Amino acid sequence: MVASSSRLIKLGLVMSAASRVFAGPLPEQPADRGNQGNEPLNPGFETGNLQGWQVVHGDAFGNRSVTDSASYWGGPFYQDQKYFIWGIAQAGESAVGELKSSPFRAGSALSFLVGGGYDPDKLYVGLVRDRDNQLLLKQTGINDEALVRITWDTSKWAGQMVHIVIHDSSTSESWGHINFDDLRVGPRALGNGDGLTFQVIGQAKQPPPRNSPACSLYATDPLRPQYHYTPYQGWINDPAGLAQWKGRHHLFSQFYPDAPMWGPMYWSHAVSTDAVHWRELPVALSPAKTSIPGDESGRFTGSAMVHGGELHLVFTDYVDTKAHPGAVQESVAVASSKDGVKFELSSRNPVVPGPPAGAPVFFRDPKVFHDPTDNSWKMVLGATNGASGQVQLYRSSDPFSWSHVGLMYTGDGSTGSVWECPNFFPLGDKWVLFYGGNGVGVYETGSYNGSMFTSEKRGLVDAGPASYAMQWYRDESGRNLAISWMGNWPTSKWPTRANGWAGQQSITRELFLREDGGLGSRPIAELDSLASGPTKKLGRLQVGEQAHSLANTNTARVRLAVDLGATSASSFTLFHFQSRAESTLLTYDIASRTLTLDTTNSGYGQVGKWDAVLAKPVDNKLTLDIFLDRGILEAFAGDGTVMSATVWPRYRESTGISVVAHEGTVAFGAISVTPLGSSWC
Ligand SMILES: *[C@@H]1O[C@H](CO)[C@@H](O)[C@H](O)[C@H]1NC(C)=O
Ligand SMILES: *[C@@H]1O[C@H](CO)[C@@H](O)[C@H](O)[C@H]1NC(C)=O
Repeated sequence: MVASSSRLIKLGLVMSAASRVFAGPLPEQPADRGNQGNEPLNPGFETGNLQGWQVVHGDAFGNRSVTDSASYWGGPFYQDQKYFIWGIAQAGESAVGELKSSPFRAGSALSFLVGGGYDPDKLYVGLVRDRDNQLLLKQTGINDEALVRITWDTSKWAGQMVHIVIHDSSTSESWGHINFDDLRVGPRALGNGDGLTFQVIGQAKQPPPRNSPACSLYATDPLRPQYHYTPYQGWINDPAGLAQWKGRHHLFSQFYPDAPMWGPMYWSHAVSTDAVHWRELPVALSPAKTSIPGDESGRFTGSAMVHGGELHLVFTDYVDTKAHPGAVQESVAVASSKDGVKFELSSRNPVVPGPPAGAPVFFRDPKVFHDPTDNSWKMVLGATNGASGQVQLYRSSDPFSWSHVGLMYTGDGSTGSVWECPNFFPLGDKWVLFYGGNGVGVYETGSYNGSMFTSEKRGLVDAGPASYAMQWYRDESGRNLAISWMGNWPTSKWPTRANGWAGQQSITRELFLREDGGLGSRPIAELDSLASGPTKKLGRLQVGEQAHSLANTNTARVRLAVDLGATSASSFTLFHFQSRAESTLLTYDIASRTLTLDTTNSGYGQVGKWDAVLAKPVDNKLTLDIFLDRGILEAFAGDGTVMSATVWPRYRESTGISVVAHEGTVAFGAISVTPLGSSWC
């Protein structure tokens, strides 16, 4: 068990629990008793300098902090108007200092934009009462240069004189700065007064420790997916240990409970009877106890194995060799459970003491499968030869006694120089290998002779930007299921860090072999049970160049069938999470059969366009099945293509779903929109 109040305190979020959390809908025009147009001087730095602000101490802030740079290495800053504070611009990462606004009278609400490093103690925007210099509220950054709007309920201090401090006592050379812009006091704090209101982010919205009902609390966090697995607090990445055992589906995740950031790895644990509705169980694996500061050793990704009436987890034991010089960095270890809840480390660990002789230290993510070619347990591991990703193969008759079969497969280098999270299993008359390389999931299908794999076809596991480390498992009915981390290392964005959590797992997918021999995904049938109301059916519909509204919801499933034979348009576009200010687009170009996901103007998520060429639709009928969940989208095409994105809309009104045709009309055979509920209720 790791949940405890001391861990909540470490998150630096408890102090703001003293303030009231906005729960449920906000009033459109909130009463603003305290503040009558009383804003601090130069609240958005539009003078181009620090006029009206005071450098309290240090050299981190000065006039050079005020910049009009529009973008950084990872995309736009999203400042308001022209200028903002870029905490690195005056004196670099490691400089420290504090900046103070002019005094102003607190109103019922206050909002501002924050970016930069995550460090609740050393990097924050603070609200300070003038009278006694008490720090009332604070908010740290999210390890992103781009700015996210934080909204505070300040009604309990309304009428009192306060000021804002921008505090940087971090000497870190990595994310040792904080960015700031557009301080708003009073009604403008909640929106622009033009019908668009900001999502309320940044107040201690994390749910209490596990075993409390998450359902209603998750509902009050506007960024929190309702039916995608998320951690109650802290960080998750790779799904691991997927299995169905004695009827229950087990979903473990790489987990760090102390902050919404990667850290020494634990395994969180959830169970489900339908692979849709999850219940949190105690943490299954925790890092070895250490007294060495900064020791990042932990329990990395692995898989599950049902053997001898027990559920075994076979995983990478990662040792931080900076903290433990000379140790083996990655070995394979086992933890076993008789009840599927409590896991005990095996006394026979490590069951594989390290990579094969002469191989690089990178050796991770054991995935066990049953091999029908010799009726044995086999295990694949991600490896490298320095230039190309590789897969190592092991064999055993139980969870503990593995012998090295050999190198099962070596890539050609184009899909990454190292591979993580390999999965290998038979599907139809082929064998499927998929793995993480170059920050994306890649599959290869081909043949296997018990020791080596021969690839025939290669493609992407998911054609969108928010998928990595997918894991496969075979359920008790023989279906090939998979769950993927809706994130990755190179491009993901984590605005939810401001609410104390980060990371979400995909819905459960069923894998199948496509007509063309590639790997296809479709949503599992059990997802029907998420419906929270009647399906709105639109029947046959011709849509022209005038946009047609389909629904207003951000938690729904949209199913469309397009009759291409009766369609004259060259393409059509579906808008999701749409308001006047933003939307997420899926465009299908009929001649090139290209489906394009466009998040250029979606919200706080990663910005870009992603293409997938779909198979020629059977009978000229194209189908799309789209899952929307607050800030995230998963779109499945009928041919098995899937695109996932995390877009995080900024405005509460960004809930529109509509469609428009280009250069003609598009004929929908059927459209339906089903409202979806929570997988925690
Ligand atoms: C910023 O520039 C203004 C205008 O030149 C000047 O009055 C002010 O003292 C400067 N502030 C700081 C902190 O250097
Ligand atoms: C499997 O194929 C590889 C490569 O063609 C070959 O070297 C190996 O001997 C084969 N193994 C078996 C068991 O047939």
